[in-house]
Amino acid sequence: MIKTTIAIDGFSSTGKSTVAKRLAKALGYVYVDSGAMYRAVTLYAMRNGFIELDCFDKEGLISQLDSINISFKFNPKLGFAEVYLNEENVEALIRTLEVSQFVSQIATISEVRLLLVKQQQGFGINKGVVMDGRDIGTVVFPDAELKLFMTASAVKRAQRRYDELIKRGDEVTYEDVLNNVQSRDHIDSTRDDSPLTMADDAIEIDNSNMNLEEQFEFILKLSEEKIKSFHKKKRH
Ligand code: CDP
Repeated sequence: MIKTTIAIDGFSSTGKSTVAKRLAKALGYVYVDSGAMYRAVTLYAMRNGFIELDCFDKEGLISQLDSINISFKFNPKLGFAEVYLNEENVEALIRTLEVSQFVSQIATISEVRLLLVKQQQGFGINKGVVMDGRDIGTVVFPDAELKLFMTASAVKRAQRRYDELIKRGDEVTYEDVLNNVQSRDHIDSTRDDSPLTMADDAIEIDNSNMNLEEQFEFILKLSEEKIKSFHKKKRH
């Protein structure tokens, strides 16, 4: 069976990764969380003093990019691949609000993007991949057979992310989460390199008023239709 590439882009906390994970499982595809890679580089930058509240040493970080190795290892208990930074499982550590507060700045660095995009394209070389992020349909896989672009109101997104963080046991306020969602949207959409924009051939999904189940069913149907039509085209 020929496999396709599915690109899911969109604003922060739109539930991209939740739906992408389920979709990959349902289709027997590999799921790649490209945001986790930017988050892992951010954790490295924080630990090594390249980014703090009033300091951002881009050049210092760029000079150490060779020492950063990011990989994914499938965790059968969880049913998805967790992210590793230099062989350390950082899956939980990269999800804090603190990392979220720095990640968009790190993601503006072209040298970082170049490195990660190359690796992401490698993951997709055999197709059969669902990848979510900000530039997947525009830069990483411009030829993806299915491109989705997810949006929802900032207030809804912040509430979802706040609930997630509280459930994990993190001490955060709703206001801080909302500020972070809005500030990341702004930085991600206005940066020079690979800004967050909807690809011309993407399908926009506003999930403000959809629950996870409705959204998943809708996207699964879209994907199955796309895969079918792709097969038909290939046969002709
Ligand atoms: O919090 P959320 O799950 O929405 O974001 P994420 O997918 O974990 O991505 C974290 C950050 O990484 C984004 O806000 C972007 O700054 C950056 N990113 C990017 O620039 N390009 C990607 N393909 C994925 C993430």
